[in-house]
Amino acid sequence: MTTKVSVAPSARRLTRSLRDIGYSFESAIADLVDNSIAAGATKVQISIVFDGKASTISLIDNGNGMVGSEIDEAMRFGSRRTYKNGELGRYGLGLKTATLSQAKRLEVVSLAKGAETPVARTLDLDFINDTDRWEVLDTSEEAETAEALELLQAEHGTVIIWKKLDRLLPIKSPEGGWARRRIEGLSEKLNAHLSMVFHRFIEGIDGQKVTIEVNDEELEPWDPFIRYEAETHDLGVDEFEIEHDGQTGKIRLHRFLLPTREDFSSKESFESAAGPDRWNKQQGIYIYRANRLVQWGGWAGIRTIDEHTKLARCALEFGTDLDEAFNINVAKMRVSLPAQLKKMLTRPVDELCIEANAAYRRSVRRAMETSEEEVIKDAPAMGSSESGATIGLAIKTAAARTGNYDALKAITKLLRDEMPEVADHLGL
Ligand SMILES: Nc1ncnc2c1ncn2[C@@H]1O[C@H](COP(=O)(O)OP(=O)(O)OP(=O)(O)O)[C@@H](O)[C@H]1O
Ligand SMILES: [Mg+2]
Repeated sequence: MTTKVSVAPSARRLTRSLRDIGYSFESAIADLVDNSIAAGATKVQISIVFDGKASTISLIDNGNGMVGSEIDEAMRFGSRRTYKNGELGRYGLGLKTATLSQAKRLEVVSLAKGAETPVARTLDLDFINDTDRWEVLDTSEEAETAEALELLQAEHGTVIIWKKLDRLLPIKSPEGGWARRRIEGLSEKLNAHLSMVFHRFIEGIDGQKVTIEVNDEELEPWDPFIRYEAETHDLGVDEFEIEHDGQTGKIRLHRFLLPTREDFSSKESFESAAGPDRWNKQQGIYIYRANRLVQWGGWAGIRTIDEHTKLARCALEFGTDLDEAFNINVAKMRVSLPAQLKKMLTRPVDELCIEANAAYRRSVRRAMETSEEEVIKDAPAMGSSESGATIGLAIKTAAARTGNYDALKAITKLLRDEMPEVADHLGL
């Protein structure tokens, strides 16, 4: 008979390698917010507190909380549980891997609905490193737990605290000004990310509306499709069905053509519509898995990013029943489109891009015409000699028509110092 050999993983080694599975700071926090939403929270408060080596990042939610057996399972790498359709969790890893990507210590304090006493567990990488065992500490009776519980101002919910922020603090001088700026600077990018990734939940969807605060600032939703602008064109919804593992699943595509700069109601609105990664990178497909964004922009291999199609954005929605077909990764920040779907999307995406391209070109033409009008209006004031003035006007018109008017302005500025008589003819 063949004998079996146990090859259980080394806790020390595996936890260390799990630190590098590709989370950014903001995607790690988003993974915690996923858990809060899955637990039915309506409020999530995140705090980033700089205190040198003792700096902390915490998240408090008013979700359903956990009892003892649940919190034990929550701390396990690969939590044993089943998921309902539409639940945001999938791997049983996020809480731990997201934490370890940024910090060495995870403290969880939870008060379940209807429970009288809280439960608390702590996962500490230094402890695992010493023992090489898959163990967490029961910290329910510790003073820290009572303190954490005070932060929880609801009848039930969960407090998550990250300590030993070795991946966020500089090793050499964690107390210094640079460290402070680094920690305090984290919130800006985080705010933009969460406002985007959870915009549907912040707006409220399917009976769930979530308030998210970062350092007491309530986040506004960022709608990638700028539906609040009158000139945004809603090109409607298309539905597709794909087959995976003998099952069919539905996918929705909703296409939008965004307004050109001059059609926005204000400069501020135009700036905010650009999004965290700015106009060019934010064109493309926004992929929603159970209403949470898992990809924000880019064309998912269907075409490449191009300045001329930056006004094209569309929503692509799939349910958790298609997770395997979409190959969602642990950090929930990358999916790959099934080949079958890519083919189906090519035509509607190309059509959208043709419209976006035309809108872009119309806008450039309009801008050029306006500058040409200005050029001609200015003509009599130019140059000292008739021929110089004519050449100046010709150059200016050509610059405007090729979209180089600003470049010509810069050239004239240099000429003003070096060849003022030529600059005079340009009259800029
Ligand atoms: N804030 C929370 N409130 C209540 N329960 C939570 C909370 N955070 C985690 N849990 C519980 O802990 C479990 C493990 O969380 P974890 O994020 O590690 O995995 P997951 O959410 O199940 O899957 P994924 O790896 O896809 O995120 C969850 O399934 C949930 O039961
Ligand atoms: Mg999770």
